[in-house]
Amino acid sequence: MEVLQTSALPLGYVAPISSPDSKIPFMRSQDFRDALAKLAAGVVVVSARTPEGFRGLTASTLISVSAEPPLVLVGLEHESVTRAAVVETRQFNVSVLTRAQEFLAERFAGRAPSVDPRWKEVPYHLGTNGIPLIDDCAAWLECDVTQVHSAGDHDVCIGEVRVARAGKGNPLILWDRTFWTLH
Ligand SMILES: Cc1cc2nc3c(=O)[nH]c(=O)nc-3n(C[C@H](O)[C@H](O)[C@H](O)COP(=O)(O)O)c2cc1C
Repeated sequence: MEVLQTSALPLGYVAPISSPDSKIPFMRSQDFRDALAKLAAGVVVVSARTPEGFRGLTASTLISVSAEPPLVLVGLEHESVTRAAVVETRQFNVSVLTRAQEFLAERFAGRAPSVDPRWKEVPYHLGTNGIPLIDDCAAWLECDVTQVHSAGDHDVCIGEVRVARAGKGNPLILWDRTFWTLH
């Protein structure tokens, strides 16, 4: 694996433990974060439609759940504008980022210039559902939301995959609070 280190910011994303009345005894929030930072994850952009245009966020919590029917899940923070759009419209798309798209990961995480509602500076095409998919990704999914479970400070959104396509390019990987890629 090769490290990509163009960001001056710490990169890791671990769902924060914010609740002071956590039921788990004797575990420091930092221990949880440090442990989960060792779980390698693909980096995606989850996109959705809003009344103003489009919205998207960088996520590392997308996993496959079932093959028949084809289901994926993604954990979306309660505070996230994209989460609100996903839950409201019951649809979302997934663009699986490549090593060349690290800067887009930063932008959709709010760590670089924000993306406007028309996605003017982001190369994208519309999926069959009218929601954007980023060009030149490693893969793309179009999903209908079938279930939303509130879990701590996130919603677990389960999507039935209506369209799935594989692209080219090495995936962008988050591990140990840093972006990596495969050779
Ligand atoms: C590498 C990385 C992975 C992230 N993964 C998630 C995630 O899985 N779920 C989530 O809700 N936020 C995640 N975030 C944080 C969101 O991208 C960030 O809060 C974003 O600005 C939310 O945008 P929104 O409010 O416009 O939806 C991640 C951030 C980074 C840098």
